[in-house]
Amino acid sequence: MNVAIMCSGGDCSGMNPAIKRFIEYSLEKNKTPYLIYNGLEGMIEGKIKKASLKEASGIIFRGGTVIGSSRSKRFYEYRYRKKAYEELKKRGIERVVVLGGDGSFKAMKIFYDEFGMPFSGVPATIDNDIALNSYSLGVDTALNIIRRAIDEIRDTASSFKRGFVIETMGRGCGYLAAVSALAGGAEICLIPEVRYSLDSIKKRLQKEFSEGRGYCLAVVSEALDISVKLKEWMQECFDIETRVTVLGHTQRGGNPTVYDRLMAYEFTTYALECEEKEAIIVYDNGRFETKKATCVIESKYQMDAKILDFVKRLSGVVRH
Ligand code: F6P
Repeated sequence: MNVAIMCSGGDCSGMNPAIKRFIEYSLEKNKTPYLIYNGLEGMIEGKIKKASLKEASGIIFRGGTVIGSSRSKRFYEYRYRKKAYEELKKRGIERVVVLGGDGSFKAMKIFYDEFGMPFSGVPATIDNDIALNSYSLGVDTALNIIRRAIDEIRDTASSFKRGFVIETMGRGCGYLAAVSALAGGAEICLIPEVRYSLDSIKKRLQKEFSEGRGYCLAVVSEALDISVKLKEWMQECFDIETRVTVLGHTQRGGNPTVYDRLMAYEFTTYALECEEKEAIIVYDNGRFETKKATCVIESKYQMDAKILDFVKRLSGVVRH
């Protein structure tokens, strides 16, 4: 059986360990592994090559993806999807393992409905916004990068008595900001999933500043587009010089953490073992499961209630 792997959408750490496992486990199971280079764009263009153990070597520690990724506009058009299918068919490929996010899974579902190409989706996005799934590849590495940045920023904030607004990625999902605020010990956290009250934050922190607080860290999600406004507000309310640090794409790179390597191994094993034709492998409550793509695509991601409760305290919704 010929099987292929592809990365689609934003790259993340954990993709390379998944590619390594894919090649090695396919060969172990007497399947022939293929690599699709440059995501859906490469699928359209037939950039698909048979892989050997050589391609699996020396990649486990590298961030990003050695086979490239893309966000393809052309794949929205039927004629390009047909071309992509012909390229897979030419090589006798019978299943595609897709490392990506929601948009990539939707694209593969349409592709499956039209041409019957089976696929296994592996959640791989630092946004951690896949429904019915609590962990996506890349998240632990991204969280550790953010945690280190917050620890380092705290050094300056405390030495220089400054405020900092630290902006995380995550697209429409506040997971990275929420967990980073918790792990980094921030005083303020604003995310799209939780209402906020600046008046209530002001009361809490003005009291703390009057009792000797010297600095203040706020972690905010990019989705709110509020960093500059919040910085000005902090300067005015607490009378401290405040800076904005947008962490940007630093969060997407870096050597995958041990956890991401381990999860890549597990997710990819399930993706190759899976027999469901249109499948997404999800991880929840400590268990891996195969779900029908429709079921995942049509559901909404829900953040852990305990994390949301924590954020409510830092966003002024729940008083301290
Ligand atoms: O989906 C991953 C992600 O990094 C988001 O967190 C972010 O909003 C977006 O991609 C950035 O996209 P680009 O790399 O195209 O600027």
